[in-house]
Amino acid sequence: MNFDKPITIALSKGRIFEQTMPLLAHAGIEPQDDPETSRKLILETNHGNVKLLVIRATDVPTYVQWGAADMGVAGKDVLLEHGGEGLYEPLDLNIARCRLMVAGAEGASLDGDRLRIATKYVNSARRHFAARGQQVEIIKLYGSMELAPLVGLSDLIVDLVESGNTLKANGLIPMEHIADISSRLVVNKASWKMKHSAVMALIGELRDAVSGRTDGA
Ligand code: PRP
Repeated sequence: MNFDKPITIALSKGRIFEQTMPLLAHAGIEPQDDPETSRKLILETNHGNVKLLVIRATDVPTYVQWGAADMGVAGKDVLLEHGGEGLYEPLDLNIARCRLMVAGAEGASLDGDRLRIATKYVNSARRHFAARGQQVEIIKLYGSMELAPLVGLSDLIVDLVESGNTLKANGLIPMEHIADISSRLVVNKASWKMKHSAVMALIGELRDAVSGRTDGA
């Protein structure tokens, strides 16, 4: 691929980075450093005009919204919390798949007013219970949500569930599905216009890579 204009892509370390690299490789883009061993936050690639920003997953939509990155890879969980302002979401990359769910201890009830819900996903949780017609108290946590009902901090949690092992190991059960989650490609709205041909070409390559992988699965 030929990039006539500079393109910056924001993504997070770990699973998203590892699973996005084969998709970018399909578009002929290879980073020059490994974020697991390098402390660099801007990674050069084999294309002089393409750079990767390695940032916190929750910061990806913000960098893209403000145009500090032209594109990014972010989980739908993060995008639901962010709200999606200033972003297009043209492609489901079908990676890092899991479910956003309400969970609780055996015998816990989903009904009732003033339930206390511990979660990192404050906006999604509030929207979900509002749609059920319930007013709930949201307790914001930053991780290990499964602990909250065990020590009486909350009645229920809203969290990501992949295999279900973390819930099970802590004696909790999934109670209600909120959303299917996977990583999405997001694009800054101005970059979409100003760098249209490069952005479209890259989306095309990534789409091919995703559908090739799905067909071959
Ligand atoms: C996520 C999530 C659950 C767990 C679910 O946590 O918050 O705790 O994975 O996976 P499972 O259903 O396969 O057990 P993560 O390890 O990403 O850390 P976090 O709690 O700090 O977000």
